[in-house]
Amino acid sequence: MSAVASRYVVQPSTRLHGEALIPGDKSISHRALMLGSIAAGDTEIHGFLKSEDCLATLVALRQLGVRIDGPNDGQVIVHGLGYARLQAPSGPLDMGNAGTAMRLFMGLLATQPFDSQLVGDASLMRRPMERVAVPLRLMGAHIMTRDGRPPVDIHGGHTLAAIDYELPVPSAQVKSAILLAALRADGRTRVVERAPSRDHTERMLASFGVEVLHSGDAIALQGGQVLRSTRVQVPGDFSSAAFFIVAGCLAASRGLVLRGIGLNPTRTGLLDLLREMGADIRVRHCGKPGAAAHSSTEPVADIEVYASPLHGIKVAAAAVPLAIDELPVFFIAAACAEGETLVRGALELRVKESDRLAAMATGLGRLGVEHELLTDGLWIRGASGFDGGVIDSHGDHRIAMAFAVAAVRARAPIEIHDVASVGTSFPNFVASAHAIGLRIELCR
Ligand code: S3P
Repeated sequence: MSAVASRYVVQPSTRLHGEALIPGDKSISHRALMLGSIAAGDTEIHGFLKSEDCLATLVALRQLGVRIDGPNDGQVIVHGLGYARLQAPSGPLDMGNAGTAMRLFMGLLATQPFDSQLVGDASLMRRPMERVAVPLRLMGAHIMTRDGRPPVDIHGGHTLAAIDYELPVPSAQVKSAILLAALRADGRTRVVERAPSRDHTERMLASFGVEVLHSGDAIALQGGQVLRSTRVQVPGDFSSAAFFIVAGCLAASRGLVLRGIGLNPTRTGLLDLLREMGADIRVRHCGKPGAAAHSSTEPVADIEVYASPLHGIKVAAAAVPLAIDELPVFFIAAACAEGETLVRGALELRVKESDRLAAMATGLGRLGVEHELLTDGLWIRGASGFDGGVIDSHGDHRIAMAFAVAAVRARAPIEIHDVASVGTSFPNFVASAHAIGLRIELCR
């Protein structure tokens, strides 16, 4: 068990109701800062996620010479320098826990005339970076990792050339790093993804005036295009909403409402899986945030969830990338569904902020759930509820929040250790959870 810096104690909370506030989208907040910085002119960001991960990106961009005002009440103004005017940082750029920040910065910094180094916290320093370094090297970048992991050293001053690259793993971070480098490469870069991954970068590049071409499973981008500043409205983060969607499916007989949630189809696989299990989830007011202001091209809606009996399912491997960050909390739903649930093809979960397959399997075992940990997935036999018990989150925000949700079907308190990481994606999780009746307490 790792050091218990802070913990949640969650009492059985079998009745949820009301409206939970969901913060801005993490993936989109990172991208808005980065694209705003390399655009010419001022970019206004609304609904920005003020979390540790996104603040790591913000601080790093300041170290690269970008002037950024805020965040104030979710509003940030990025005084973009244009791609060519970033400045050499005076020391290593610390990405904290943020894999997205590190991988996207690799693409951005590979095109610069100066050297830079990317570091992170203990979890990030264990994560694989060669998946990004390999295609960037093919473009002509000079990048060094240590045994495939950070620190990442980027030697600037090399002209990049376009590549034609098929992603070996479905990864939006790898795809995005290549596209960011492609903006300053000679020629047209083409990225092929056999299974779709989140497409926020492509959508946002288009709203910054970049021509992004789509043809079948390929995305192409001509180097040398200039980004024009814009206004970005960040929708509520579907991955944060996911905890309350599952909680609602399990315990909100009078309903639970989540407003202004991003429903980009490359993110919402969880809704399809839960509905296949028998969930009652209703989507209302589909629209685009700030559409009138020509901002984000991300679909947004309100979500209403009602408790209903769930049954186990076999999840197709193709469904995994579309629900990749939601699988920890999906396993909680599966543990409460009648019958068996099987997820395969989820090897990527082993290289997230923690080994999420192992962390979920151990935690489910502690709470009395019959399960089998597979190399690339998890088999679970659902039951009526959870025993109480002590869980190690392994310093992983999504593991911590997933097990907090288990309390809605628990027979005794659940104590979750090492939960400070929740601040990387959902700083107000406890307050939002309280508002709908989850009896959760943060103890330090
Ligand atoms: C993200 C992409 C996904 C996801 C991560 C955020 C992004 O990672 O798991 O939380 O913002 O691009 P991969 O690209 O490794 O699949």
